[in-house]
Amino acid sequence: MSENLIEVKKLVTQFSGKNGTVTAVDGVSFSIRKGKTLGIVGESGCGKSVTSMSILRLIPAHSGKIASGEILFGGKDLTKLSEKEIRHIRGNEIAMIFQDSMTGLNPVMTIGKQLVETITAHNKMDKKDAWARAEEMLKKVGIPSPAQRLKEYPHQLSGGMRQRVMIAMALSCNASLFIADEPTTALDVTIQAQILELMRELKEKENKSIMLITHDMGVVAEMADDVMVMYAGKEMEYGDVRSIFKNPLHPYTQGLLKSIPRLDQDSSEKLFNIKGSVPDLSEMPKGCRFCTRCPEAKELCHKQEPGLAEADGHKVRCWKYDAKGGWEDGGR
Ligand SMILES: Nc1ncnc2c1ncn2[C@@H]1O[C@H](COP(=O)(O)OP(=O)(O)O)[C@@H](O)[C@H]1O
Ligand SMILES: [Mg+2]
Repeated sequence: MSENLIEVKKLVTQFSGKNGTVTAVDGVSFSIRKGKTLGIVGESGCGKSVTSMSILRLIPAHSGKIASGEILFGGKDLTKLSEKEIRHIRGNEIAMIFQDSMTGLNPVMTIGKQLVETITAHNKMDKKDAWARAEEMLKKVGIPSPAQRLKEYPHQLSGGMRQRVMIAMALSCNASLFIADEPTTALDVTIQAQILELMRELKEKENKSIMLITHDMGVVAEMADDVMVMYAGKEMEYGDVRSIFKNPLHPYTQGLLKSIPRLDQDSSEKLFNIKGSVPDLSEMPKGCRFCTRCPEAKELCHKQEPGLAEADGHKVRCWKYDAKGGWEDGGR
């Protein structure tokens, strides 16, 4: 087991609105090992992005807050840092690769200027050397004619190119943790594969840790060392990738896995989809959050929320595996 780079403990993040307070992330705990990738997977609206925004302390203060929990990184609890301190971490130690690559780049500044700014902010280097380094970085992430590209503005590049530039930026600041939130969702499959390959290299050659958020189990299978399956703000299943794919225990995980399109599948065959949708935060079902959609739910599941149980070498939040035998006794 390699050492943990970051440990998130019982994180609770809430938003307040017209209808009172809602809890988007509800007591989630996980860690990311040095040089490894944690895949966080779940349907849209399950709290994946809120989890990553919490780590970076980017939850908009007027509507939301980290209500409790700890985020331990480099001997510090990120939830307790001042704005100035967290800004330093954000720029230097934790880098973000956004889904929409325009978000992370300044539209009115050339790619070169942005890269050089990042490089000189993080390395003792004059402008001229920084330009050379910027060109080298673009080459490293597979951008053709890098010298030319440096003179261009973000809108002149394709989405895939911009995504590479963001990875180059993140590399330039020497971050040890990369947070990638649906980094390839907007890209076509070929470019998607190239970006994933680049991220894999980051991990393997540069020993970076990656928190990879996706709704795509196929991407998780390819990229992750560890997996956390999130549903309606909670971790439903958590463990190493082999054990989760070989022996998925939670009915939700099983449903997600059945939704992966397979090459050997007849295209006329209908893709399995979990029926229903993620519950609204203000109308969370009593009992297990997944009970309204679970093909196996019993009476107990509708009444009481299961805890995280240890089964088959990983963790799962389902009465079926509860050590107290909730399924057998009260489950019916
Ligand atoms: N700024 C916000 N204000 C209020 N609610 C929010 C805000 N951001 C996210 N949420 C709520 O938090 C829940 C989880 O959202 P999110 O983390 O974006 O889901 P995911 O990334 O898994 O698709 C959603 O129900 C969403 O409505
Ligand atoms: Mg999201």
